[in-house]
Amino acid sequence: MDSFAFIIHPIDPKRDVTRKYPLLGKWLPVNAIHFVSRFWPPLYLSHITGARSAATGKEIEGWLIAVPYTAPRMLQLSPQEVYRKIIAAGRMAEELGAQVLGLGAYTAVVGDGGRTIAQELDIAVTTGDSYTAAVAVQALHLAAARMGIALQQTTVAVVGATGAVGGVVAQKLAREAGRILLVGRRRARLAEVGAQVQACAQGEVALSLDITDIREAGVVVTVTSAGGNLVRPEHLRRGAVVCDVSRPRDVSWQVAQARKDVLVFDGGLVRVPGAVDFGFNYGPPPDMTFGCVAETMALTFEGRFENYTLGKDLSLEKVEAIEALAAKHGFKLAALRSFERQLDDAMIDKIKLQARRSNDNIITK
Ligand SMILES: NC(=O)c1ccc[n+]([C@@H]2O[C@H](COP(=O)([O-])OP(=O)(O)OC[C@H]3O[C@@H](n4cnc5c(N)ncnc54)[C@H](OP(=O)(O)O)[C@@H]3O)[C@@H](O)[C@H]2O)c1
Repeated sequence: MDSFAFIIHPIDPKRDVTRKYPLLGKWLPVNAIHFVSRFWPPLYLSHITGARSAATGKEIEGWLIAVPYTAPRMLQLSPQEVYRKIIAAGRMAEELGAQVLGLGAYTAVVGDGGRTIAQELDIAVTTGDSYTAAVAVQALHLAAARMGIALQQTTVAVVGATGAVGGVVAQKLAREAGRILLVGRRRARLAEVGAQVQACAQGEVALSLDITDIREAGVVVTVTSAGGNLVRPEHLRRGAVVCDVSRPRDVSWQVAQARKDVLVFDGGLVRVPGAVDFGFNYGPPPDMTFGCVAETMALTFEGRFENYTLGKDLSLEKVEAIEALAAKHGFKLAALRSFERQLDDAMIDKIKLQARRSNDNIITK
């Protein structure tokens, strides 16, 4: 049977360590988890079964493997040290028989976005970022339509536009946004991305190094490696739609508590075709997964064992090609989810009502 492996790592240290080691997770303080994570070897987590292509009926199998570094740990250590553990996890995937390896969350962010890791391994490697970008844009369309916002008539902000996913999401959204605002933290890189985005844009392209400028936007996609709590309640305009692709989340929990008028949702969740069993609770509901896992699975369904998405410069063509491939095999955008809860129509109507109770106009420049 064709097969894949996918690498994950702790996002919320206490919660995620408890999922694998209930007692350790309960008793170890967070600082100790960050410390110990440097020395813990890669871990086999589970055997994934039951995924079946809607197009061909082909069944595939896979494995979840953990690289037990927390996100802050990965950013503190040298990329070479982090690569060593990811490569060791990749060797485990090879021994299990996987033909393609997906890199989850910060294992794709660190260093050169998977290129060094792919060079060291004998199996194909993908970051999954192309399909992540495609699914984020699909989800954004759905959410904006539900809130009655036309992308052509609003400012669309992309926070982390200088990154791999952010850059290509910005190019895709620029084709339809009335105005696009690119937010980053390095002026020179932001200018480069701005020039690429300008080539596809139908409206004005604005650049900013200041997160508070997203208050101009009716629609926001946030996709950074900031490590959490970047987008706070005071940054968002009334009635804004916010797609948070980042893991750990960029949007602070305070937004859920303080801003009942904004629609915040997780970008990148899709439903898996067949009766999939991931064999381990790594976050999403049992029949759903992240875009990056789905990209790895779609390549396996298709028997395309190649380094599909690597590095930091993603191409729109590859984003569109993997979107078509995933749709062919039956991956579908999952219902919108916000802070671990599914958003139903009644909840979205309530948010709309809160948003209307203000004079602040959500249709901007
Ligand atoms: N949900 C999913 O399925 C899924 C899949 C893949 C990735 N992700 C998540 O998506 C995020 C981005 O991934 P990626 O592969 O695109 O990473 P990346 O290429 O490293 O891009 C991250 C970008 O965030 C920028 N950034 C960091 N802190 C910032 C801040 N305070 N303000 C503005 N920009 C900031 C970085 O700026 P510099 O260029 O200046 O460093 C970088 O350009 C990560 O959180 C990752 O875990 C989620």
